[in-house]
Amino acid sequence: MAEATLDLRGLPKAKAYAAAEEQLGAILLGIDDPIAAMATIACVLHQGFGHLWTGFYRVVSPGLLRVGPYQGTLGCLEIALPRGVCGTAAAERRTVVVPDVEAFPGHIACDGRSRSEIVVPVLDRSGQLIAVLDVDSEHLGTFDEEDARGLERIVDWFAGRRLGGSS
Ligand code: SME
Repeated sequence: MAEATLDLRGLPKAKAYAAAEEQLGAILLGIDDPIAAMATIACVLHQGFGHLWTGFYRVVSPGLLRVGPYQGTLGCLEIALPRGVCGTAAAERRTVVVPDVEAFPGHIACDGRSRSEIVVPVLDRSGQLIAVLDVDSEHLGTFDEEDARGLERIVDWFAGRRLGGSS
């Protein structure tokens, strides 16, 4: 299959996330491999929105995240909980929206150009935390509740939800 990623820049967020979800639903249909899904989600979101960094940190032991599939500049390899925005989201199992990374104590700057960030926990079918999805922007205040809900819906794939469908 050769399918181009969508250009989601300039669309209202609700439309952009609906389109990303629709495309991911079609690509991931019948796939049962979390790493393949992480790589595909990182690609569709990164190419679509044009953010600075888009990718996953996987839970490799109870207190440690290790980088997974991503797109962008070189990511930090490991993050211990509850360090940084990723470690906070993982430790508290909640989405963390950071409008200004300099105002977030403990923010880890893998790329000095990052100005705002969102991190969403990723749960599997049994409700276990398996990863976090981290998206970084070069601009202040890029992410809000619409991004939180849109990204949470997409990572629900790992909990068994079919994307772009009604289930
Ligand atoms: N900024 C993140 C670290 C990961 S990189 O941005 C790719 C944090 O504070 O957890």
